[in-house]
Amino acid sequence: MPYPELDVRPVAGALGAEVFGVDLGQPLDAGLIDAIRRAWLEHLVLFFRDQHLDADQYLAFARRIAEPVEYPMLKGLDGYPLIVPVVKLAHERVNFGGLWHSDTAYLDTPPIGATLLAREIPPVGGDTLFANMYLAYEALSDGMRRMLEGLRAVNSSAKADVTRTREDRLADSGAKLGPGTELASVHPVVRTHPETGRRLLYVNGGHTVRFDGMTEAESAPLLNYLFAHLTRPEFTCRLRWQVGTLALWDNRCTQHNPINDYHGHRRVMHRISLGAERPV
Ligand code: SIN
Repeated sequence: MPYPELDVRPVAGALGAEVFGVDLGQPLDAGLIDAIRRAWLEHLVLFFRDQHLDADQYLAFARRIAEPVEYPMLKGLDGYPLIVPVVKLAHERVNFGGLWHSDTAYLDTPPIGATLLAREIPPVGGDTLFANMYLAYEALSDGMRRMLEGLRAVNSSAKADVTRTREDRLADSGAKLGPGTELASVHPVVRTHPETGRRLLYVNGGHTVRFDGMTEAESAPLLNYLFAHLTRPEFTCRLRWQVGTLALWDNRCTQHNPINDYHGHRRVMHRISLGAERPV
């Protein structure tokens, strides 16, 4: 058994596992953190139930995985700038990040991972989907993989579909970067995970606008094919949140999509972005 210290139960064939038998609010020894990290690399996204951590406990756990980093657009909690509230209020229609994406791919060094801790959830709905980008890459034909090899893509913070999902939060957050600000970075279309050595597809519908050296119109047919391909149901899993559920995902090799199906109800999550690494 790879993690004798933990009870790890996969939730789907593609990715995702629930982890039982650990209280993340307690000081964790190095052996347990190593087991959590290994499970994270194997399952890509981990779900821990009943983790009613206060802000200090939450930050302390996050720091054991990787150094927390600020979210470029959003202000954190008072006194805790590294913990960002991800909120949809009862009267709002748009949810934050409500489309398939990997986080902040428009930075030169996007976070390696992120955690989300559920504080308030709707009575039903508000699940989050995750997708496995190793499987998405491995399922491509040899010819397509050869064609993508060596291509690079431009990722922007200003793609219309994703900026719409942030407008409410930017308006009320006192964000450091205004809605008109564009951040952009060029990354390989196929990257190698630095810890597992596996190759994976690294374009996403939220941020990738075109291939480097091509126009948006020239890039669109292939990019749109890849965006549809990489979210095929057999590459995904679905998290049903409970208050106190903590999700920890590897942002290098997954994408996620919070489902906006709970109008009229509040959903409040606390998010910490982890680490920073240049994709290669
Ligand atoms: C996010 O993209 O950080 C939000 C995910 C969620 O609300 O489930």
